[in-house]
Amino acid sequence: MDAYHVLMVHFPIALWMTATLAIFLRVFSDGPLAKSVDHALVPLLSASLVFGIIAFAIGLMVWPWETISASALGRNHVLLASWTVAFWAVILFVRWRRGESVWQGMSRWVMAGLAFLGSALLGITGTLGGHLVGIYTEVSDLLRLLGWEVYTTYYVPNTTLIALGVISLLLLVMAFWGRKAA
Ligand code: HEM
Repeated sequence: MDAYHVLMVHFPIALWMTATLAIFLRVFSDGPLAKSVDHALVPLLSASLVFGIIAFAIGLMVWPWETISASALGRNHVLLASWTVAFWAVILFVRWRRGESVWQGMSRWVMAGLAFLGSALLGITGTLGGHLVGIYTEVSDLLRLLGWEVYTTYYVPNTTLIALGVISLLLLVMAFWGRKAA
């Protein structure tokens, strides 16, 4: 299935990169072109997600699970691919549910931040896929400079996980509170 995975990953990569450009265009412009492009954003993000899920599913069939999960690099590729798909699903959900109000006030900068992080995750996923087939890029050198060696298991301390869980709960409580007060 390796040839199919390599073929299929091009679709979500190209579509999510296009979505990133569309989001940045809308963040920096209220002109008619940016508004027209924004109207295509939900269909574009939906198509990207469908192709992302297909590429992910085919990825699971390339090597046996025992093989891909036996190396830190393989696990990191699967981890980053999962984050990428989940993250872009959240961006789609936010733009779909909040509509054009995401471009008002501070929200447009939140969208810019989400698009930047989403394309960074996508770039790292592709980079790690490249490493799996022996094609190396400077992205992994940059990650090494930032303190993460891609050939070692990505590690988050338990205390950080607990802190993330507590912050997520607090944000949910604040959201429900704010909704009641409105
Ligand atoms: C949206 C999610 C994914 C993206 C964007 C992605 C991207 C990539 C890329 C760019 C390559 C390098 C292809 C090449 O240049 O030849 C690759 C290779 C690979 N990926 Fe993924 N990947 C994703 C999900 C997954 C998942 C979930 C798995 C496994 C559970 C997986 C397993 C592999 C394997 C085994 C290779 C090496 C293929 C070979 O031996 O030719 N990928 N991936």
